[in-house]
Amino acid sequence: MRLDKLLAHCGYGTRKEVKSIIKKGYVFVNDVMVKQDKYQIDPDNDIIVVNDERIEYQEFVYYMLNKPQGYVSATEDIHYPTVVDLIGDYNHEIFPIGRLDIDTEGLLILSNDGKLAHDLLSPKKHCSKIYYVEVEGIVDDEDQIIFKEGVVIDTGYKCLSSSLKVLKIENGMSYVEITIYEGKYHQVKKMFKAVGKKVVFLKRIQMGNLRLDPNLKLGEYKILEKEDLDSLMSKNMLE
Ligand code: URA
Repeated sequence: MRLDKLLAHCGYGTRKEVKSIIKKGYVFVNDVMVKQDKYQIDPDNDIIVVNDERIEYQEFVYYMLNKPQGYVSATEDIHYPTVVDLIGDYNHEIFPIGRLDIDTEGLLILSNDGKLAHDLLSPKKHCSKIYYVEVEGIVDDEDQIIFKEGVVIDTGYKCLSSSLKVLKIENGMSYVEITIYEGKYHQVKKMFKAVGKKVVFLKRIQMGNLRLDPNLKLGEYKILEKEDLDSLMSKNMLE
């Protein structure tokens, strides 16, 4: 693997940024300063040090993104910027695990780990997802019951049981948290529509045990460790 590719892959910046780090002489391979970005690395055996810090190469990378509105959950799109664009132009192998609508904000995991994607998205796994929702209309006890029993959306699909937590009701608006265990297209919006209410703001705040880091501003991301995702996988699945 090329040195610049490896550094970009390990989160040291965009391809352009890491080329500059290499040129400035900050990178050592097996104790020798290397200034060529094309230099070929054996990630399993070479010892690579950047700014006195030894690099641990990981085949798989995981990012937590606080998705802003206006970005599509895809790797490319002809009309809109994608969530992958937010991570940087260097990591073209990563893809979003699951989808948030273009106007939905919040927690999105991106990775190049196809197995994790498969496991998390598998309908059988029923990974829990919590959304903060602002809804036009008053969410009442009857809605709570309907959501618990399973709202019927589309042409007769009965959603799995979900729970609603009403945070505040003010000026004809309801501010709620909903926990769902599946991920159908426009699911939350359709669920509220089914009880005559309109979602005007939607943000995912948790998947399984993994909470959106409150320090991440919209459009910001952080690298996740595999362990964070293992805990996501092992708990909070609907049995
Ligand atoms: N439900 C929706 O309606 N939209 C999303 O983006 C996620 C869940």
